[in-house]
Amino acid sequence: MNLKPLTINGKVVKFPIVQGGMGIRISLNKLASAAMNSGIIATISAAQPGFLHKNFKKDPVGENMKALKFEIDKARENSKDGILGVNLMHAATHYSEYASFLANQDIDFIISGAGLPLDLPEYLEGSNVKGAFIISSGRAARIMLRSWDRRYQYMPAFIVCEGPLAGGHLGFSKEQLALGDYDSLEKIVIDTKEVVKVYEEKYNIKIPIIAGGGVHDGHDMADMIKVGADGVQIATRFIATYECDVNESYKQMIINAKEEDVVTTVSPAGLPGRVVRNFLTKTLEKHNLKLHYCVDCLKSCKKKDIPYCITEQLGNSTAGDDDGLVFTGAKAYLVEKMDHLENIVNEIIRECRKDLLLNGGLA
Ligand SMILES: Cc1cc2nc3c(=O)[nH]c(=O)nc-3n(C[C@H](O)[C@H](O)[C@H](O)COP(=O)(O)O)c2cc1C
Repeated sequence: MNLKPLTINGKVVKFPIVQGGMGIRISLNKLASAAMNSGIIATISAAQPGFLHKNFKKDPVGENMKALKFEIDKARENSKDGILGVNLMHAATHYSEYASFLANQDIDFIISGAGLPLDLPEYLEGSNVKGAFIISSGRAARIMLRSWDRRYQYMPAFIVCEGPLAGGHLGFSKEQLALGDYDSLEKIVIDTKEVVKVYEEKYNIKIPIIAGGGVHDGHDMADMIKVGADGVQIATRFIATYECDVNESYKQMIINAKEEDVVTTVSPAGLPGRVVRNFLTKTLEKHNLKLHYCVDCLKSCKKKDIPYCITEQLGNSTAGDDDGLVFTGAKAYLVEKMDHLENIVNEIIRECRKDLLLNGGLA
């Protein structure tokens, strides 16, 4: 068994790893450039990149679009031929405007999760930018593929299967997480592989399946390749890199997190989110936080009687406030030190290749 090259939007990537999108302002041009220059796929996050702009509270959509253009152009300047995409959460308000805007930028794909992006192909008509989606069950993959097939005769450039150990918003309810009533990442990959088969035959294409959530090292990666994944998506481990765009204090919080510090909380979007326990999570055990402003960021946010504002708290923490919301994946406790992204990628690939070789030699 061996690692096979991955083709997205007609471009081949050296290593089948996707650097996952991380908002707010965690995965921007610096991380994306490092990812592309290390031979992996890069994702810029479209979650409030304009957060630090002076005019952000007055015109969040306009400022976010300006910031996105800046981040994309800068990443492209540093890596002309790399595979670059943008993560645009389907839960974001003004989704259609952002998607239409991104369809005209110099990127390879738009990937959407946090809801089912049933309408994404609509905004990609006539564009060179491809659509992709993130799901957390084979059932969701089936719904997505059936819908894109029937409505648009359109297939995704790739699919990310996100399991229960991922960071940020999770694709499982609070009850499912409490009861352990969810599929493992391995099962999501196997089920999704089964679902895509019929569409791969129908369209005579290959739809790469990428496994994400708790992939920390090359052994985790090899486990995913063994069950049929074509690659992996990694986010948390890439936070503690010199190249990651987030503030240094956020990186240190990830490095310092112990296993018991990683907990789940419910975001104002109604979805559970995995976070590092800190002042904010302790305060939330007692009362809701005061809201200072609203930029109407998420479709499903009730805006009133919510525990906290996700844009305010996540934006503050990624800008350097230790008391804000610190999104993380479950394996933050394995992240021990800062490193260059390229070193981490090379180490993961080395470990993965060794495991696959021991598992039956080169195919
Ligand atoms: C700090 C952080 C922020 C994230 N933000 C987003 C986001 O804005 N949109 C999204 O679709 N996924 C987001 N994710 C999920 C990642 O893209 C990725 O799929 C997942 O975290 C992979 O698992 P890992 O962190 O264990 O490697 C985020 C993850 C982290 C850790």
